[in-house]
Amino acid sequence: MNNNNSSNQSTRREFVKNSSLLAGGLLAAPLFSKANYFSGADDTIKIALIGCGGRGTGAATQALSTKQNVKLVAMADAFRDRLDKSHKSISEEIDAGRIDVPEERKFVGFDAYQKAIPLADVVILATPPGFRPIHFEEAVKQGKHIFMEKPVATDPAGVQKVLAAAAIAKQKKLNVVVGLQRHYQNSYRELFKRKDAIGDITSAQAWWDGDGVWVHPRKEGQTEMEYQMRNWYYFNWLCGDHITEQHIHNIDVINWFKGSYPVKAQGIGGREVRKGKDYGEIFDHHFVEFHYADGSILNSQCRHQPKTMNKVDELLIGTKGKIFAGAANIVDHKGKVLYQFDRKTENNPYQTEHDELFEAVAKGQFKFWDAERGAKSTMTSILGRMATYSGQVIEWDKAINSGIDIHPKEYDWAAMPPVVPDADGFYPVAVPGVTSYA
Ligand SMILES: NC(=O)c1ccc[n+]([C@@H]2O[C@H](COP(=O)([O-])OP(=O)(O)OC[C@H]3O[C@@H](n4cnc5c(N)ncnc54)[C@H](O)[C@@H]3O)[C@@H](O)[C@H]2O)c1
Repeated sequence: MNNNNSSNQSTRREFVKNSSLLAGGLLAAPLFSKANYFSGADDTIKIALIGCGGRGTGAATQALSTKQNVKLVAMADAFRDRLDKSHKSISEEIDAGRIDVPEERKFVGFDAYQKAIPLADVVILATPPGFRPIHFEEAVKQGKHIFMEKPVATDPAGVQKVLAAAAIAKQKKLNVVVGLQRHYQNSYRELFKRKDAIGDITSAQAWWDGDGVWVHPRKEGQTEMEYQMRNWYYFNWLCGDHITEQHIHNIDVINWFKGSYPVKAQGIGGREVRKGKDYGEIFDHHFVEFHYADGSILNSQCRHQPKTMNKVDELLIGTKGKIFAGAANIVDHKGKVLYQFDRKTENNPYQTEHDELFEAVAKGQFKFWDAERGAKSTMTSILGRMATYSGQVIEWDKAINSGIDIHPKEYDWAAMPPVVPDADGFYPVAVPGVTSYA
């Protein structure tokens, strides 16, 4: 790619347009062919935001803060109040010229994504993860470049759907960035480059131990579906439990540095302090032993319990030394520091994700295919959840091919979600030794 501006813009227009044409089955010729030159009027990269909550608002703001000519043209959310709040916050941060979302391009409801996706070149998928597989599948079908948040599913059937769509995205040369932002963070990238300094990785540890997250109590007049959608963190079909929703970041780092995924897992978990009706069905702690094919083990722990130790970090132990991700250094077994990352050169990885994605789209480059690794790290966290819920050894191959699908048959405000409370308002919670995936 050369750096000439107009040439870059032409290439970008061609790339964006060709991706859409290919998706619609209209383009048989190879991508980047001059014969398929896009005759669009300008070089604007249009984005649609699907899921206008905290992270979606942040991601859209970051996309709109890149150097490219990016414009927000459509927004979709299950709830109108969330969409309006997001539009307001983006408008407070971003120049008005970059926001063009009139009333007719604000979409609300379960089918809102289907209306917003066609209007964009790049889509941001930031709903709760339960919806990611169907939203990702649709965006790929329509030939869009994609930024999607982690995790990318909440059950094995969803992981399979994402893997299938990821393969098609690759064929279509659609850039896909997944919000596992440590891959876009300078300290992690520098440690990764030097990982051979610790020899063969024989074991690892990963932590996401903290106080927990928000709760949205039930409001009068809400259907069960609306209540669960508002309080999504506590329902597995939407969230996947915190081992999937948060701890995926740390598990993913270990998979990344290992260059592989576990073959089996076993673990313990439960709820000690999260006992009330507001906490749905998820656990408040998980401790999982993940086994890799080469015999190495990841000990992973995550906890949501107020007033306990806080730690979010990863440690890799090799035959010659250790990588401390939080301290951003590499140390040999005698304690000698072999490498120390210079904190002054740290970046904001949330911004870098978008800087790199939009630069690639603008230059017509196909550079990012994060979906497969995002799906496999999501599956790793689901494997861990299946291990702690059942108390059994869970094998990767069986779990990923199990077809387990925990989603509702129908997405509708009046429809019943897959888990419902008992007469006292409590939800069923997994019991190790009783819950079974056999
Ligand atoms: N990479 C990170 O560090 C990071 C940080 C925070 C959140 N996240 C991820 O971002 C995602 C969203 O988290 P959040 O904190 O923004 O949650 P949030 O509740 O603030 O936002 C989610 C939004 O999606 C909307 N929504 C729900 N179902 C929808 C549907 N079917 N169609 C359209 N909109 C729908 C909700 O109404 C809400 O506005 C999660 O997957 C989360 O794990 C990632």
